[in-house]
Amino acid sequence: MSLQEEIQKRRTFGIISHPDAGKTTLTEKLLLFGGAIQSAGAVKSNKIKKAATSDFMEIEKQRGISVATSVMAFQYGGKQINILDTPGHKDFAEDTYRTLTAVDSVILVIDVANGVEAQTEKLMEVCRMRKTPVIVFINKMDRDGKVAFDLLDEVEEKLGIKVCPLSWPIGEGNRFKGVYNIHKNNLNLFDANKTKIAQEIVEIKDLNDPKLDEIVGEEYANELREETELVAGVYDEFDRETYLAGDVAPVFFGSALNNFGVQELLETFIEISPTPRGRMADGEMHNPDDKKFSGFVFKIHANIDPKHRDRIAFLRIVSGEFERNTFYKHVRLGKKMKFPNPTSFMAQSKEVIDSAYPGDVIGLYDTGNFKIGDTLTSGADFMYKGIPSFSPEIFKEVQNDDPMKTKQLEKGLAQLTDEGVAQLFILQPGNRKVIGTVGELQFEVIQYRLQHEYGAKASFKHRPHHKACWLTSENEAQLDEFIKRKLNNIAYDKDNNPVFLADSPFLLTQAEMDYPEIVFHKTSEFKLD
Ligand code: G4P
Repeated sequence: MSLQEEIQKRRTFGIISHPDAGKTTLTEKLLLFGGAIQSAGAVKSNKIKKAATSDFMEIEKQRGISVATSVMAFQYGGKQINILDTPGHKDFAEDTYRTLTAVDSVILVIDVANGVEAQTEKLMEVCRMRKTPVIVFINKMDRDGKVAFDLLDEVEEKLGIKVCPLSWPIGEGNRFKGVYNIHKNNLNLFDANKTKIAQEIVEIKDLNDPKLDEIVGEEYANELREETELVAGVYDEFDRETYLAGDVAPVFFGSALNNFGVQELLETFIEISPTPRGRMADGEMHNPDDKKFSGFVFKIHANIDPKHRDRIAFLRIVSGEFERNTFYKHVRLGKKMKFPNPTSFMAQSKEVIDSAYPGDVIGLYDTGNFKIGDTLTSGADFMYKGIPSFSPEIFKEVQNDDPMKTKQLEKGLAQLTDEGVAQLFILQPGNRKVIGTVGELQFEVIQYRLQHEYGAKASFKHRPHHKACWLTSENEAQLDEFIKRKLNNIAYDKDNNPVFLADSPFLLTQAEMDYPEIVFHKTSEFKLD
C-alpha cells in the first residue's frame, strides 16, 4: 500500500467527557463494533482511573492499566481506527490535554441529564485552541433529561461552538422512541437491548409519509415533524469543511449502554472525520504525506514492571513511514537513535511492529532519553509545536526527608516531571523546588513513586499561590524590574523560563496593570511558537 493509501485509511481520535457521562461505555461499544473485544466489560480500567481514591495500590494499578489501554486500535469499514484514551479523573486532566495534541478529532460525550459540566468546558477549551474537529454524542437518552433544544443551546453557550444536529430524538427518557437521522433520512427505533448490535432502521425519506405515524404513533410523529422543522430553521445545514475547521460540531443522540445510536455515530465518524493531519514545527507545516519521517512524544509512562526502570514513550507519527531498527534523529539531544522493539497497541495487546504510518501511535522503550514534546525526525532539525503546560492550581514546596538520598530525589523529580506528572519550578535563593499540579492526587503519586522507584523520601509544604504565569516581554528592562521587585514570587521552570507565582487573582490583575509591557501567559504554549 502506498503512503497516501495508508494515510487515507487512518482515523485517530480521542473520546472526552466529564466522568460518568459514558466515555468508557461508548469506547467499549465502539470496540465491540470493531471486533477488537468480544464482550462488554473489557474496558473497565477507566473505573479505576476515575475512582477518587488515595489507595496506593489503586494508583499502581492505574498506572499499569493505563499503559495497556492508552491507545486502542481496531479496523472498521476498511479504516484503521486509533482511539486515544483520556483519563476521567480531573486530577489527571493534564494528561488529557496532552493526549489531545496527538489526536486529529474528538468525540465529546455529554450526559443528557447533566448537560455541560465544568470539566467538559475545560477540555473543549483545549480543542478550540487547537481547532480540533469535535462530534458531540448526547448520551443516556433512555433516561429523563434536558429538552434537546435547551441542551443544544447550553452546548453552544458553554462550549463556545456552533452545533449542527445530524440526528434528532423522538421523545426522551421513558418516552424515548428512537432517533431520526437527519443526515441519512432514516428512522432508528429504540429497543433497550444491551447486548444485541443489530437494530431496526426504517427508511423515511419524507417525514410526511404516513408510515411514520404508524410506526411511532401520531403524537410522536407530529412532534418530530414540528421539531425537525425548527431544527432546519435554527441550525445551518451540515458542512464538512466547517466541521473540519473546528467551527461547528455535529451532534448525535443515543444511549451507549443500550448500544443505540453508536453504529450511526461510528459510520458518520468514518465518513466525515479527518484523516491524519500535519503539525506545525517552527512556523512550518509538516504534512503526513511528506516522505520524510517525523513524530513527537506526547506521553511517557513508567513501565508496568517495577523491576525495570525503563519507560514507554508514546510517539505520534506525523509524516512519512516509521521503520523498526532505523536510525532517527532525537532533535533535542542531537542524537541518532534506533528502536528494535517499537510496539503498536491493538486493543489491549501490544505487538512489535516493523513499520507505522501517520496517525499511528507507537510505544518506544526508553531509558530516560525522552521528555514530553520531544521530536524524532529522519534527520531534519525541527521541533513540533509541543504540548502546552497549563498553569497548575495547587503548589507545594518539596521537603527532602532523607538528605542521604538527595541525588535520588533530584533524579526522581526530574524524571517524574519529564513524564508530565507535575510541573517543577525552582525558587531562589536556595534552589527550593516547588511542585505545581492540578490535583491533590498527584502529590500522593509523586511521594509514592519517589520512594518506590528512586528510594527517596519527600514530603510537601503548602504554598499559597493561585496561579503560575510564564513571563515574556519585548521590554527587557521592565521584565528585569518586575523580577527584582517580586523576587519572592518568581520561580524558573525546567527550561529556565521565568514564572510569576501569583498569590491571588487580585495580585495578578494588579501586576498586569502595573506592568503593561509584560505578557503573563497562563499556559506555556508561547514557548513553542
Ligand atoms: P465514564 O467513562 O464517562 O466515566 O462513564 P461510564 O462509561 O463508566 O458510565 C458511567 C455510568 O453511566 C455507568 O453506570 C454506565 O453503565 C452508565 N451509562 C453509560 N451509558 C448509559 C446510557 O446510555 N444509559 C444509561 N441509563 N446509563 C448509561 P454505573 O452504574 O456507574 O456503572 P456500571 O455498574 O453500570 O458499570
